[in-house]
Amino acid sequence: MKRDLISILDLSAGEISGLIAKAEKMKAELAAGVLPKTLAGKIVGLVFLKPSTRTRISFESAVFRLGGQAIFMTGQDTQISRHEPLADMARVLARYIDAIVVRTFAHSDVEELAKFASVPVINALTDHSHPCQVLADLLTIREKRGSLEGLMVAWVGDGNNVANSWMKAALRLGFSLNLACPQGYEPDSELLDRAVRESNGKVRLMADPEEAVSGADVLYTDVWASMGQEDEARTRQQAFQRYQINSHLLSCAPPHAIVLHCLPAHRGEEITDDVIESPRAPVFDQAENRLHLQMALLDWLIGSKEL
Ligand code: CP
Ligand code: NVA
Repeated sequence: MKRDLISILDLSAGEISGLIAKAEKMKAELAAGVLPKTLAGKIVGLVFLKPSTRTRISFESAVFRLGGQAIFMTGQDTQISRHEPLADMARVLARYIDAIVVRTFAHSDVEELAKFASVPVINALTDHSHPCQVLADLLTIREKRGSLEGLMVAWVGDGNNVANSWMKAALRLGFSLNLACPQGYEPDSELLDRAVRESNGKVRLMADPEEAVSGADVLYTDVWASMGQEDEARTRQQAFQRYQINSHLLSCAPPHAIVLHCLPAHRGEEITDDVIESPRAPVFDQAENRLHLQMALLDWLIGSKEL
């Protein structure tokens, strides 16, 4: 039966660990020039209704490096722009290609595509979540910290799609997650309630960013206004002033703590230039790992199928 990656909760803890280990192996094989071409003869379609630099190019690169072919589509140059039902598009694309990678607005649209496509569907970001980002971030944390045992992550800023995926990862893996968000900008409330309840208090919402980062191994932030929220940017700038990762906030964290950001970053808003440019913030290693994690994901779903 086909597998999709719509949510981190689609994966067991063992599968997440398996994907991270596979990504580490494939990263080493790529560096050594011995990466097997396990996607030879496979075609992956990317349907992107929002802009992207990292996700699009890292997925396309992953497909090419594994010997497959990628086809990139936007809303404008497909019949999505003329409201062809997603259920029809899913069934048609599945006759031509081996997997569908989707970036869109409504999370239910990705679920609809997955329901009707007989090939794997991968969520490449919705308004609700961004699982590929957080899976790759777990790889980065494992590399930098050595292990995910006893991990504490502090999310500082908007309770957005990336924050939601962090809660799902914490639910699956059992690490501690402090979420410092301004009032009115908390993550998905149903998911938050579930995460707080099922994590026995290891997932915590707090208003104070200084409290959230004290004891954290990783400080994480993202833009204050996500794609599709551009009209709210000014209001959000005021609401989020206290939620900036700057040298003062970093000084409230343990000396070993690192700073991650999914990028693109708005320097001077959610993070200062001196912090993001410092050795404490390995954000380009983090961005690189999108490629390796997604090579592992594609290989698992449609390549060797091994994990
Ligand atoms: N982090 C991330 O998903 O970046 P893009 O929007 O550039 O794909
Ligand atoms: N939260 C951001 C993430 C971008 C990668 C957005 O949705 O725009």
